[in-house]
Amino acid sequence: MQHLQKLIFDSIKNSQFPNQPSNLYDPIRYFLSLGGKRIRPTLTLMAAEMFGIREIKDALSAAKSIEYFHNFSLVHDDVMDKAPLRRGKQTVHEKWDINVAILSGDGLLVKGYQELANCPPLYIPELLKTFNRVAMQVCEGQQLDMDYEHADSISMSQYLEMIKLKTSVLLGGALQMGAILAGASLQDQKLIYEFGENIGIAFQLQDDVLDAYGNPETFGKQVGGDILINKKTYLLVRLLEIVEKEDKPALDLLLASTLADNPNKIAGVLHLYQKYAIKSSADELKDSYTKQAFERLSAINIPNDKKEALITLSNQLLIREQ
Ligand code: IPE
Ligand code: IPE
Ligand code: MG
Ligand code: MG
Ligand code: MG
Repeated sequence: MQHLQKLIFDSIKNSQFPNQPSNLYDPIRYFLSLGGKRIRPTLTLMAAEMFGIREIKDALSAAKSIEYFHNFSLVHDDVMDKAPLRRGKQTVHEKWDINVAILSGDGLLVKGYQELANCPPLYIPELLKTFNRVAMQVCEGQQLDMDYEHADSISMSQYLEMIKLKTSVLLGGALQMGAILAGASLQDQKLIYEFGENIGIAFQLQDDVLDAYGNPETFGKQVGGDILINKKTYLLVRLLEIVEKEDKPALDLLLASTLADNPNKIAGVLHLYQKYAIKSSADELKDSYTKQAFERLSAINIPNDKKEALITLSNQLLIREQ
């Protein structure tokens, strides 16, 4: 597993971009240099290996295409979420400006397609189809995420559909692309995709929890950022579902306030999360999706020892602190 992660990190580190225009390429270099966990490309390589690809290097371009797409989506996401920090450093729109974030994000997206074009030609049509399907779904999820910020409340099923689209389809797609490159059957592609989809939902639930409860030293993003913008996270959706009449006016006031007129906005919302034990209910739901994910993985007819890398990585990313 470490071997696959090293392959990805080295390969992205060695990627070349022109120098000019510097306000296009410097932010791309900057953002990629911040690293991140590189989960998605690792998933692509692990799936390819699990399904018996002959040469792992044949899956490297597909893995990188997914990671570039992910980085594109983060640069734009930080604009949309008004986030000051990413991976422990200033976001692109903070360090430069919004126009630079738009265009350097676009550049990363194109870089993703350039990598796709370098994949083994036999598989490009199928890879492109999967990539395009999940990429468009991510856009759909991000739009719902934006729309829901302004909704008074949303249902839990609307929330789950939104996080499936914005986050989990990309994990599923990353795995499916690895499976495609290894010549896996359609049934196995479906199972590994669904494994990723369920892990992805658990992963986003964890992300929502970390946004409110993360350790600022290790989290790398602004703790409480979701609360400040009334993001419809699991925590807020659940609270709105079960809050009692006596606490509703206080919650409404908190949601109507900004940090400028109420410096205690984050603390106030956290207090209600605490009162209604919202965090433990998030943890329970996360565990249930994790369980469903592993059931899909079990259903794949391959010896267990070949699945270990994926199991280890999934467990690591579901107890992550950043
Ligand atoms: C962040 O993804 C966006 C979410 C889907 C929660 P990661 O947590 O994988 O971000 P990096 O790439 O490791 O920084
Ligand atoms: C991530 O959602 C979804 C995408 C970036 C597509 P978040 O907005 O929760 O991700 P973070 O918390 O900023 O990493
Ligand atoms: Mg977002
Ligand atoms: Mg965000
Ligand atoms: Mg988040």
